[in-house]
Amino acid sequence: MRDRLLAAEKIKAIDWRDGALFLLDQRVLPKVQTWLRYDSAAAVAEAIRTMVVRGAPAIGIAAGYGVALAARERLAAGGQWRAGVAADIALLAAARPTAVNLFWALNRMRERLERLADDAGVIAALDAEAQLIHESDREANLTMAQLGVDLIRKRQGHPQVLLTHCNAGALATGGFGTALGVIRGAWLEGLVEQVYADETRPWLQGSRLTAWELAEDGIPVTVNADSAAAHIMRTKGVTWVIVGADRIAANGDVANKIGTYGLAVNAMHHDVRFMVVAPSSTLDMSLENGEDIVLEARDGAELVGEGAPVAAFNPVFDVTPADLIDVIVTEKGVVERPNAAKMSALMCRKRLH
Ligand code: MRU
Repeated sequence: MRDRLLAAEKIKAIDWRDGALFLLDQRVLPKVQTWLRYDSAAAVAEAIRTMVVRGAPAIGIAAGYGVALAARERLAAGGQWRAGVAADIALLAAARPTAVNLFWALNRMRERLERLADDAGVIAALDAEAQLIHESDREANLTMAQLGVDLIRKRQGHPQVLLTHCNAGALATGGFGTALGVIRGAWLEGLVEQVYADETRPWLQGSRLTAWELAEDGIPVTVNADSAAAHIMRTKGVTWVIVGADRIAANGDVANKIGTYGLAVNAMHHDVRFMVVAPSSTLDMSLENGEDIVLEARDGAELVGEGAPVAAFNPVFDVTPADLIDVIVTEKGVVERPNAAKMSALMCRKRLH
């Protein structure tokens, strides 16, 4: 299946060429496809903050390249350049709080830099490390797709009706997606009849990004209002809800796009299986459970418009408790009915590829 999955890779959102970062502007997709060029860490931090690039793995990858750009800039300026890179890493870390992939990638880049005693090799080594982060995320997508497809195949009755939330596809990762990677793989195997894509208020990652990605692949996709999901589960024969994650705590609690928690509650009520697909870079074993995950709340204007005469509360992530999750799929393997012991055993495993 791996070759067929690779052949199905079409869309990408992150490119690194000639020492510069290029990002497909996700704020305006799918109407307009604009690539923006980035030459500085500060500009990459702003791109993450303003959602030019979004989705947990993609944010981490962009931040990795941001550190590579920081080294270029700071070395050229001379003086205490390592302190300058540290300041840029802090700036990148402040861009968004929830997706742990951001901090994971920054730590990897920082540790790589600390191992480099000789200034001469710094730029090449950091470029290579950022590219490795990017490439290994792509590989992880492929492994997770195969594992997720096996789970769908095991469930009775094919082809199946799937529901997804937000965008966990090529636009959100270094490959062809986590949740959408599984859905793409299942489609290639003839296991999918229909995909419902929650619209995902207020940024519309579902109706703009997921619907576009799946339609480009010829996968039957129907967009629905977020509030229609329970009704769809009851009336349309949904067998699986499949979502990505921004941070998974040591006990298997999952932070993901606002509305994911409600989906999990509804899925349990309707006997719909709930699958979370995320690379191990999304696991935060330092947090015992989801309560300590910092959940981003964005400007209320994103919800009700500038100058609206009402207050708006706009949390953009929520936490789904582990006991509502049927399975977490990572590139290290799958964890059914997650709990702390199973998650810690998973972390001890090597990647499966
Ligand atoms: O606010 P966003 O668009 O960055 O939120 C994205 C999500 O919640 C995704 O589901 C998650 O990052 C997984 S992407 C593979």
